Amino acid sequence: MIEKIKADIKTLLENYYAKNGNEISVVVETPKDPKLGDISVPMFAVVKVLRKPMPQIVAEAVEVINGAALPIKEVKTMGAYVNLFVDKDKLAVAILNEVLSQDSNYGASEIGKGKNVTLDYSSPNIAKSFSIGHLRSTMIGNSIKLILNKCGYNTYSINYLGDWGTQFGKMIVAYKKWGDKAVIMADPISELTKLYVKFHVEAETQPELEDEAREAFRQMELNNPEYLELWKWIREKSLKESAQIYDLLEISFDSYNGEAFYNDKMDPVVDELESKGLLVEDQGAKIVDLGDDIPPALIKRSDGGSLYITRDLAAVFYRKNEYKFDKILYVVGNEQKLHFEQLKRLVTKMGYDFADQIEHVNFGLYLTNGKKGSTRKGNVIKLYDVLQTAINLAYDLINEKNPDLKDKETIAKYVGIAAIVFADLKNFRGSDIEFNIENAVKFEGQTGPYLQYTSVRIASILKNNEFDANNIDASLFEREHYFELVRAVSEFKGTIEKAALESSPSVVAKYLLNLAASFNHFYSLEKINAADPVVRNTNLALAKSVRIVLNEGLRLLGIHYLDEM
Ligand code: ARG
Repeated sequence: MIEKIKADIKTLLENYYAKNGNEISVVVETPKDPKLGDISVPMFAVVKVLRKPMPQIVAEAVEVINGAALPIKEVKTMGAYVNLFVDKDKLAVAILNEVLSQDSNYGASEIGKGKNVTLDYSSPNIAKSFSIGHLRSTMIGNSIKLILNKCGYNTYSINYLGDWGTQFGKMIVAYKKWGDKAVIMADPISELTKLYVKFHVEAETQPELEDEAREAFRQMELNNPEYLELWKWIREKSLKESAQIYDLLEISFDSYNGEAFYNDKMDPVVDELESKGLLVEDQGAKIVDLGDDIPPALIKRSDGGSLYITRDLAAVFYRKNEYKFDKILYVVGNEQKLHFEQLKRLVTKMGYDFADQIEHVNFGLYLTNGKKGSTRKGNVIKLYDVLQTAINLAYDLINEKNPDLKDKETIAKYVGIAAIVFADLKNFRGSDIEFNIENAVKFEGQTGPYLQYTSVRIASILKNNEFDANNIDASLFEREHYFELVRAVSEFKGTIEKAALESSPSVVAKYLLNLAASFNHFYSLEKINAADPVVRNTNLALAKSVRIVLNEGLRLLGIHYLDEM
């Protein structure tokens, strides 16, 4: 929070000199020795421009600083330096007033003003069940979007459905050989998943099935009406299943244009590669060389079929034109690092200058007992089941602690979701996560429910206690546990900005854990509802500020705050 005062002093002095026609960059620093002050302003640069005696320059600066209503307790001069001691009491009071008056707007930033960010996340593969592996992309992407919006960015979110590609050829072959429409109708996705698994089992002994699948996909790309009909039907059923999860998590997208959307948009891009002399024949296929350090990009199969990278290349140009992004974020697992590197190189090779606006926001795997799941072998955990399990566990805990609570079902839903979401987002996204559902739902430890519980605890203190924020005892903020808690609150905005710049919700998640820990420490030392009315006002104003920040922080992660639990 001292950073803010430093910035204010810099602007104050620079504006003052500018008014007299001098453009000077004023240096504001932190003295090495805290005994000298909290802030120090060396006046050398000013003297150089104004060419007046140093004492006069220093005196002028002191006057300007004293004339502004800054939380400064004492100004001392030492040679060319103006040293300032911050008034912690006033500063703390100013911060609390800011939080209380801005409420959930507190922490809003303008670093993204006028900038467009396109986000590509969730993007499950149609006809496969929505696996827990896609949870990371969905939750990380959603949180990044909320954080960016809080920082003033315009966002456009795309669920780039995996609804095109050879896997549909496999589905069609499997369906025609072993499928039963009535059975599938009853439980589409798990039946289709079974068919998909069967395809891979059978293909181990009958490799010609793979050729049949490629041919079926090629037919799809050539608009075979029967296959397209089947494809449409499978896509619709799959989307319905994904929608269940999006509804539960309260997530929506600006667009659901998946890979198939680009089916008729690839030819012009392939032609452009061709006319720029980038496309080379390689055993009948068409590839683009991208340098010695990475493999070439395979753009067209020898049978003319398109590939994942071909569709992404068409998509990135379409999006650049359509959404005018300053940045495009692809929230996709680590295993696709090479794919996005190839995408960037292709863009550059084609002579465009926006490759550095393309960012792969990578993340690690979910591990169960140290191992990754795979749809092909059929041992993937279903995200919807995981969420339901968490919600049931939360219900049991709530029922045990607070059996008379109203609307337990809804609260359990929000607590269960908080558990899953927070267990994910508290980790640095690039790392693999070992997932344990029982630990995630606990009300103590580094969990989502713990943060909700901390906020609820404050809500219950505030519930029956009116307070007057204009009548507080500022001197209390000289005590460490008071000051530290205000400091934690004041770091909210900087934290959100850092999270936005790093596309890292974990920065916010870790901040909230610290804030909650600071509050719980405070709570262990102070009776918040103190007998002395002025102390009580102070404590309640502080507690309310903490709740405002906790709730807003949870919202940025995609988690509901609660009034009771
Ligand atoms: N559907 C893909 C998968 O599940 C992820 C798509 C990511 N986005 C993209 N533009 N490639 O692996």
